[in-house]
Amino acid sequence: MHDDGHLNLLDHDSFAHGVPHATFARLRREDPVSWNDGNDEFKGFWNLTRHADIAVANKENQIFSSAQGIRMEDQNHEEYMARRTFQETDQPEHSTTRRTVNPNFAKPTVAKFETLIRELASDICDKTLAKPEFDAVGGIAKQLPMMMLGRILGVPDEDLDWLVEKGDALIGNSDPDFTQHVVDKMDTSAYRMMPFRSPAGVELYDYAEDLLQNRRAVAEEGILAKMMRDENGLKELDFKNFFCLLVAAGNDTTRYSIAMALNLLAHNPDLIAQLKTGKYWDTCADEFVRLASPTMHFRRTATQDFKMHDKTIREGDKVLLWFVSGSRDEEVFENPNDCLLGRSPNRHVAFGQGGIHVCLGMHLAKLEVRIALEELVKRIDTFEALEAPTWTRSNFICGVKKLNVRATKAA
Ligand code: HEM
Repeated sequence: MHDDGHLNLLDHDSFAHGVPHATFARLRREDPVSWNDGNDEFKGFWNLTRHADIAVANKENQIFSSAQGIRMEDQNHEEYMARRTFQETDQPEHSTTRRTVNPNFAKPTVAKFETLIRELASDICDKTLAKPEFDAVGGIAKQLPMMMLGRILGVPDEDLDWLVEKGDALIGNSDPDFTQHVVDKMDTSAYRMMPFRSPAGVELYDYAEDLLQNRRAVAEEGILAKMMRDENGLKELDFKNFFCLLVAAGNDTTRYSIAMALNLLAHNPDLIAQLKTGKYWDTCADEFVRLASPTMHFRRTATQDFKMHDKTIREGDKVLLWFVSGSRDEEVFENPNDCLLGRSPNRHVAFGQGGIHVCLGMHLAKLEVRIALEELVKRIDTFEALEAPTWTRSNFICGVKKLNVRATKAA
């Protein structure tokens, strides 16, 4: 679908060829708090597209609540209770779980993974670069987050392909490449109590159930074992939903950030030369994540009337925080569509910065992006796209699914 600046953000097809940045730019300029009509299934919603307005909504978290669902879809109370994770709660409830899980993802904890991540990344690059032509998403971008997810959770490597396939089906529930149960093309009401209204949720629940019942071993040092041991730990349903959240959140998002970087390198040889200077390793991951912004939005629900610009958001209205748009707001970023590897400060909001729900896996994701690129760049001289990349069909998650490239190895 051609982005004429007026695409409907409700329609998954508006995103099937990449993010409609012209539409977001027009909304930021002309209608920053825009109303989006719904359809037969969904009520309409507000779109916040400016960096400053997203910051307000993130700060006023009692007014812009996460406790009635965080995606566009409407959920009744029963569905909400069945599917919610701590991401779908407000303070003070949210803080209790967040405090329990935070230490596992804190910067110093994650820094200890550096050697492991480098070993994995170096192995992945060696294997993939053994052939001169390959799909860089399948061969590189997908591999590292998948291997790391296994280490973080503490599940065996042989389960990872299956887990990632199910995670893709959850997050990619509107993309026929990832699921046969495409949410806007068929009736998925049978799965309304499952994460992402997806049958893959049933299978992931069963896997989590096996872990809880000790029918499947989990490594002692992984986060799942810790959560099961912790006396303040999660109740059964909460554990299953937390497990699904990590399988979904810890996987595709980092993959698509690395994929964005690879797509940029494959079309701009100068970026490879810049990275080879070694000057940009501290800043480049944020710039790639800013441009990728793979979880394009999360939703809030207004708990009282709230005036923003010339609009009044009413109590009970759904409000979408379009991080993908805020991260390219020309009021904050000079040349927002350019990849400036040394951009600093880089106040992007791709991780939901400024809110209490700011991404738990942020430090891990950035380390993975950086090391994947370090290991790739030192091994290559050239890296070119053989054809146009393909994109996810989703108004929630965006990323390059396939990127066929030709690479020559460094002498
Ligand atoms: C580049 C990669 C990633 C991006 C762009 C990303 C994006 C986000 C965003 C925007 C939020 C905020 C949600 C909100 O405001 O409601 C979030 C929250 C979260 N992320 Fe990430 N994420 C990434 C990687 C990861 C990884 C690797 C993990 C775990 C292994 C993870 C786990 C979570 C969790 C558990 C939350 C909920 C936190 C809370 O509600 O307090 N994410 N992420």
